[in-house]
Amino acid sequence: MPSQAFETVVSVRDVHKSYGKGQAKTPVLRGVSLEIQKGEIVALIGQSGSGKSTLLNIIGSLDTWESGQVEVMGIDFSKARETELAAMRNEQIGFVFQSFNLLDHLTCIENVVLPASFTSMREKDAREQGMEALRRVGLEELAHRPPGELSGGQKQRVAIARALYNKPKLLLCDEPTGNLDSETGENVIEFFGELNREDGMTLLIVTHEERLSRFAERVVHIKDGVIQSDDASELHDVSKEDSGALAEENAS
Ligand SMILES: Nc1ncnc2c1ncn2[C@@H]1O[C@H](COP(=O)(O)OP(=O)(O)O)[C@@H](O)[C@H]1O
Ligand SMILES: [Mg+2]
Repeated sequence: MPSQAFETVVSVRDVHKSYGKGQAKTPVLRGVSLEIQKGEIVALIGQSGSGKSTLLNIIGSLDTWESGQVEVMGIDFSKARETELAAMRNEQIGFVFQSFNLLDHLTCIENVVLPASFTSMREKDAREQGMEALRRVGLEELAHRPPGELSGGQKQRVAIARALYNKPKLLLCDEPTGNLDSETGENVIEFFGELNREDGMTLLIVTHEERLSRFAERVVHIKDGVIQSDDASELHDVSKEDSGALAEENAS
């Protein structure tokens, strides 16, 4: 089994979730299974309302679910304590959102080091690490400006620097190009590719933009809370088809 050569970073098995109660109960995820191996870059594509954010938030331990198993980096969410999950969120996972979520009354570097204010790290060390993250996204010179003075693409890079601050193993991105023009958006996606190639980072990128699929090695389509297609399992299916064809040939 080739999958055993890799480390499973995300394992979601038959997850169900719905909103509302009684008559108003609406299923949002209907038996979703998804496995992501270390170093993969996966695009999760689906129309608005298909359940993408819900799934991403569950994987990031930011939301609850009703049935099924969720395991991220060896932590079984149904058994883990909240402190363990919080540590995983802070240290192992980076989040990037459509709306950047930057604080305008702070400078860019202050936004980037904000996660450090929850740790015992010395301020000087935190700043150094923050500058390193800003350097990584090519925005070191703008470190002392407030995000309000930056373009959309630059803001998203600051948000990415903040996500990279703790050197996470997994980056979860929810519509990261949603507020950017298409060229700027493509640059951001290309940068994600670079992070993947150079740092071996595992990325899950949620988008409703079909055209961004060409940047990902593996594309997963979701519709109405059901995975419609997954490049990884299609590879599997192809081999099954091949052996089926072979069997037919042998029979004739
Ligand atoms: N907090 C909530 N309460 C009720 N319904 C919600 C809530 N969050 C999301 N939904 C519904 O769940 C469905 C999936 O939402 P979401 O995961 O945000 O989809 P996507 O990110 O693909 O646009 C949508 O129909 C949405 O209206
Ligand atoms: Mg969404």
